[in-house]
Amino acid sequence: MLGMVFRSMAHMLEKKVSDDYAKEIFAAAGVGSPGSFEADKSYPFTDMQKVLSALEDNTGKSSEELLHDFGYYLFNRLVEVHGQVLSGRNSLLEVLEYLDTDIHSQVRELYPDADLPKVTVLSRTDNAMRLRYCSKYDLYALAEGFLDAAADHYSTAIERETIACSEPHTYQFSLTVVCR
Ligand code: HEM
Repeated sequence: MLGMVFRSMAHMLEKKVSDDYAKEIFAAAGVGSPGSFEADKSYPFTDMQKVLSALEDNTGKSSEELLHDFGYYLFNRLVEVHGQVLSGRNSLLEVLEYLDTDIHSQVRELYPDADLPKVTVLSRTDNAMRLRYCSKYDLYALAEGFLDAAADHYSTAIERETIACSEPHTYQFSLTVVCR
């Protein structure tokens, strides 16, 4: 995972709790200090699992809940720093339709080492969409945080459901826009 993901995690902890708390969690995880992560370098996914596990121990929250909250935060942080990747996209469903072919491919130009999921559109109508998410990291809960943050970004209320598919590392998201 990119160093910028770790830095964003630390940033979230600093903002929600304190600078010292972020340092304590990273120290408890045994992954070095938050400042040691370089934004465009890649670090092992196991380091992220260690940070999550330290947070689970510290907060008592599940890794799904922590990943969802982090995904929500990370989406907004990414839009703050790289908002141009969304330019010309005017709705949540449009962003999702072009996530792989445009949004994440722009991300790959910014960060050649980015390790991005495969997201395929299974169906789309004016107000609903089904997506297939596939990633060896199984970060479906992080994706759900991204989805909720993106919905809020476009002031769109959604109902959504996640189903684990029979193929490994694969999940289906069904989204319906309930008001626009
Ligand atoms: C709703 C829209 C989006 C969804 C559902 C989504 C989903 C995800 C997920 C689930 C990951 C984790 C990697 C994995 O699962 O294998 C990821 C990584 C990432 N995404 Fe997206 N994303 C969205 C929009 C964006 C946008 C708008 C940006 C940039 C402005 C962005 C930049 C990134 C970056 C930098 C990573 C980290 C890659 C790495 O650590 O190697 N994403 N995305």
